Amino acid sequence: MQTCWIVYNGSLTHDKFIDQALLLQEAAEKQGIQATLVKNYELLMNVQQNLPTRPDFVVFLDKDILLARYLKNQGIPVFNDPNVIEICDNKAQQYIALAQSQVPMPLTIIAPKVYRDFSIEHTGYYEQVLENIKLPMIIKEAHGSFGMRVYLIETRKQFFEKVAELSGVEYVFQQFIETSRGRDIRVNVVGGQVVACMHRHSDTDFRANITNGGTASPITLTERQKEVAIQAAAALGAEFAGVDLLFGENEEPLVCEVNGVAHIRNIYNVTGINVGDFMIKYILSKVGAVTI
Ligand SMILES: Nc1ncnc2c1ncn2[C@@H]1O[C@H](COP(=O)(O)OP(=O)(O)OP(=O)(O)O)[C@@H](O)[C@H]1O
Ligand SMILES: [Mg+2]
Repeated sequence: MQTCWIVYNGSLTHDKFIDQALLLQEAAEKQGIQATLVKNYELLMNVQQNLPTRPDFVVFLDKDILLARYLKNQGIPVFNDPNVIEICDNKAQQYIALAQSQVPMPLTIIAPKVYRDFSIEHTGYYEQVLENIKLPMIIKEAHGSFGMRVYLIETRKQFFEKVAELSGVEYVFQQFIETSRGRDIRVNVVGGQVVACMHRHSDTDFRANITNGGTASPITLTERQKEVAIQAAAALGAEFAGVDLLFGENEEPLVCEVNGVAHIRNIYNVTGINVGDFMIKYILSKVGAVTI
């Protein structure tokens, strides 16, 4: 029997992380794989030694990129690839790659690296940003999930307060897509195919994330929305991706971000689709299913 490890972060104690792992385990077992849930700190990353036991493949549901690399270096196929997890974990990095592949997205400027205790306020830098991206704009930290580090900046005062507060942090300035206020689409792409999607909507917040109070409902994608979601996943080399799409002028899709470790519970509740089924099927097509 083939075996897999489903690696998740043991220090994130919210139910949704274990729930995510359980959905994957269920999907793997349905396809005859013996799947073990493994917390990231249950593996000793002794770089000079080989692991005493190893599975046929790993589904990596964590952002512990060092562990993902360690497992890959042990010769175990890891999904998503550690490089993909790394690029998706940094929004600034992923916007560079998306732009390189001409993926449609909001106008984005990456903030320069400025060390704490130094201010570039009087250099004219921020005036240039304000000229290029008008207020209101979005400021988004490179590392953040569930909409928690995404800010809507409406006034110059808020702008200068936020950039001062984020000194020493990686972040981006981004055009606020007003036509998408409080709504977006989550599209799950597996192996270059759209396998599930949902519309997310909030009446109380500019962010549509469900964790932020948004509600989700089924949606049928346009061909263009499908095409852009697939293009975004491909631009990052992501075999599994949760692509967030915004609604631009005339509803044309703009990529908000790509998640390399997308949560799949909400989309399961809304659509009845366990994205995990597609992930496991895809992995088996890559690593080769064993027939006994
Ligand atoms: N440029 C933008 N214009 C309009 N709305 C935006 C823009 N960027 C983000 N949003 C809104 O804010 C929400 C959160 O932003 P984003 O998806 O980039 O980060 P995140 O949700 O924190 O990341 P994750 O999906 O990994 O949890 C989006 O779902 C969208 O509703
Ligand atoms: Mg998001």
